[in-house]
Formats: sequence, structure tokens, C-alpha cells
Amino acid sequence: MNSRTELTADVVVVGAGPAGLSTARHLTRAGHDVVVLEARDRVGGRTWTEEVDGVTLEIGGQWISPDQTELLGLLDELGMGTYSRYREGESVYIAPDGTRTRYRGETFPVADATAKEIVRLTELMDDLVTSIGAKEPWAHPRARELDTTSFHHWLRQQSDDEEACTTIALFIAGAMLTKPAHAFSTLQAVLMAASAGSFSNLTDECFILDRRVVGGMQGVSERLAAELGDRVHLSTPVRTIRHSDEGVVVESDRVTVRAQRVVVAVPPPLFSRISYDPPLPRRQHQMHQHLSMGLVIKVHATYPTPFWREDGLSGTCFGTSTLVQEVYDNTFHGDERGTLVAFVADEKADAVFALDAQERKARILASIAQFLGDRALEPDAYYESDWGSEEWTRGAYAASFDLGGLARYGADQRTPVGRIHWACSDLAAEGYQHVDGALRSGRDAAADVDAALREADPT
Ligand code: FDA
Repeated sequence: MNSRTELTADVVVVGAGPAGLSTARHLTRAGHDVVVLEARDRVGGRTWTEEVDGVTLEIGGQWISPDQTELLGLLDELGMGTYSRYREGESVYIAPDGTRTRYRGETFPVADATAKEIVRLTELMDDLVTSIGAKEPWAHPRARELDTTSFHHWLRQQSDDEEACTTIALFIAGAMLTKPAHAFSTLQAVLMAASAGSFSNLTDECFILDRRVVGGMQGVSERLAAELGDRVHLSTPVRTIRHSDEGVVVESDRVTVRAQRVVVAVPPPLFSRISYDPPLPRRQHQMHQHLSMGLVIKVHATYPTPFWREDGLSGTCFGTSTLVQEVYDNTFHGDERGTLVAFVADEKADAVFALDAQERKARILASIAQFLGDRALEPDAYYESDWGSEEWTRGAYAASFDLGGLARYGADQRTPVGRIHWACSDLAAEGYQHVDGALRSGRDAAADVDAALREADPT
């Protein structure tokens, strides 16, 4: 029997991640009737706080930096607390030749000449960020030049110190866009850094990985959804958007909604999983093919105690040539046990995904043990966040343009198509690829839709 529900609303929002829920909240507060359709059986999208084998894990997004004021403001409003990432003690660095060194501060313990090159390259990136900014990188006079040069090659044009180049690349490639540095442009790297205020901010883990949400980041979306109540429909993947001068009809597996406008708040590589009638314009068809998700495995390993702390270590570890390139103490608020989080990105993730699960786990734990010792080899609980296998995400952390795509299409990425609007962290300026950017893009899309609705009906 067909149990399809037919609804009407002013606006339909597709996707109940932070961007979609932010859109819905702003529009509801502006007095509009909003329906949210979400494919999954939960809200939060790429934020997902879940108990796995007795440990509460942040399977997706979790950290907040001090410049992420949209998110910080919302947390205040929702009465949600934050706590600091554990960071006492020394960090560990593994050099390309395998040498392991304990150190303090933000500077990796590398040879003096390499350290100077890292500082010089950081300054070059900071200068580009200051000159180009996050809002319209495509409009800068050097946009095309920088967007047609891969970040890998640009770094080697600036310096012949390979360790300095791979270190600088790590902060954007493995750590942020989660693509190899040859696969994205220098302009894309500048946008990533500009969205966090500066390249220096990205290299400062005390800044970029500053705080976490008590209870978990998914709680933000859960509270926004609770405010919206039965206007949020779960397990309703949107399949078709019919649009005309008269309005939109949004068809999902269980619900059909007739509305004035629709905001598509899903990761850009999924825009084309929805059918549009009439089809989107040529430019959107082309542009959406140039946006793709990165790939990273977020590994969680929980131990009876945070044993590294007894050894005077913070749990923060970096290596540019190790399998695991970053490790942090990720112990959940109030947990007596110790949890480490480790990241395996891009081509290294491809390589370990080709192994069976036991072998992959053994290799990843061995890599963590290189940094923190053999006690890391036997966690009580172990979990790999595998967002590449999630049908409604298909990668991690987020989407970015391929070489040349940002200069060519960036100016149009948020342009509405008739009554169809777009929102997502992956289209944001400040907070790009982060929860903060998702909230900002939702706020901005809501303002556009509100203005259009008021223009159509000033009463
Ligand atoms: P998001 O992907 O979250 O939500 C989109 C929603 O649309 C999903 O719920 C999806 O199911 C739904 N959807 C898709 N297609 C649909 C369809 N056809 N019909 C209906 N619904 C559909 N950020 C941060 O600030 N700090 C951090 O530490 C991290 N770390 C991090 C780690 C990992 C492993 C990941 C994967 C991501 C992060 N992030 C992060 C990024 C952060 O999680 C991300 O930027 C936001 O969740 C993006 O929010 P959006 O709402 O834009 O998309």
C-alpha cells in the first residue's frame, strides 16, 4: 500500500545536517513554514556522536576553533558547554628517516635550515591568504594562475627543501582537504587556510583543534531538530525536485512537499543524485562534476587509561611519511579511560582499505605505536570511521574543487537556480568544510530565501 504523505510548506530543506537545520531554524524564526527531509534515520549528517563498544565516540566532526563564532554563539544559545582538548606534556614527531623526537611548542623538531624554510613557506601562505581571503578567491587577479598550479608543484617552485614542502603540504592535504597535494590547486589551499583566518592558524593544533562539545557535536543538530519537531522527516531520501515559476514539488521516498522554494543542503557531490525537472542548467551540470570528496579514516582507539599522559606525553603526534600522520588525545568528556584519535588520509587510506580489516587494524595500531609505544597496540576498543562507505556522504571530511575548478566555477557555486538554493559547509567561506561554515551557509541561504519570499509576498 502506498503510504506517501503529501505536505505543503513555504520552504523545503533537503538534508538535516548542520547546514540544513541552520537554514530551517533561521527561516522558521523569520515566520516561514519549513519542512526538512533527511535521508538517514538520524539528524546531524557528518556529525555523529555514538556509543560503540561501550565508548562514546565522535565518528564525524567534533573540534571547534576560537574563530568559529557562528558555532560558538549557537552553543551558547543552546546552553551547550565546551571543553578543552587535552594538550599537557610533550608531542612526538617522526621524521621522514624514521627518527622519533619528543618536543614542545608548535615547531616540529627539524634541522635548522628546514625549520627556516617552514617559517618562510608559512609566511608566503599567510601573505597569499591576506591578499586573497576566503570570500571570493576566484575574483583575485592571480586566481587562475594559482588554481592551475597544484599545491605540490607550487611548494617545490618555492623551495627545494623536501621535508619543508611535505610538512607544509600535510597541514592542507592530509589534515584538511584529505586529498594528495598534487590533486588540488594552490588557490584551493589558500581558501582552506583563509577560511580558518590564516595558514598559521591551520598549523597551530591548539587553535584549530581547540575545544569540543560536552555531550558531543551531533547534539547541536539534535537540539535544532527538536525545536523543529515534526517538521523534520527522517528516512526520506529526496529523489526528485520539480521546479517552475509557480513553485517546487520535492519528492522523497515517503513524503512529497509542495512549496515556494527548496534549499538543497547536502554535500555538493550528492547534488546530482537528485533528479531535477527541468534539468539543471549546463553550468551546474559541469560545475558539480568538478567537486569531489576527500578521503580519510578517523581511527578511535580506547585504552584502560590514557597511558601516554603518565609518560609526560600529550598524545599529539605528527609524521609526514608515517601511515598515521596525526594522533591526538581524544578522551571523551568525563571518561576515565584514554581514547586516541588517529588519521589515515588520501592514498594511504586507499592502501589500507585494500587490506582485510584485521591487517588494516594491525598496521594502523603499529603506526600509532611508533609514536606512543607498544601499549598502543592493544586497545580495549577500536573503531574506524569510514565515511567513504556512507551512501549519503561518500567521503570525508568534505568536498573541494579539482585543479582549476575553483577559479572557473567558484563564483557560481552558491547561485540559486530559479527556486532552488544551495547550502553546505563545503560551499562556505569562513568555516569552509567545518560545522561553523555549515551553520553560516545555512544562515545565508535562509536570508536569500527569506528575501525572495518577502519580495513575492510583501504581506
Ligand atoms: P552534512 O553532510 O553534515 O549533512 C548533509 C545531510 O544531507 C546528511 O544528513 C545527509 O544524510 C543528507 N542527505 C544527503 N543526500 C540527501 C537526499 N538526497 N535527501 C535527503 N537528505 C540527504 N568539522 C568541524 O567543524 N570540526 C571537526 O573536527 C570536523 N571533523 C570531521 C571529521 C570527519 C570524519 C568528518 C566526516 C567531518 C568532519 N568535520 C569537522 C566536517 C563537518 O562534519 C561538516 O563540515 C558538517 O557536518 C557539514 O554539514 P552540512 O550540513 O553541510 O553537511
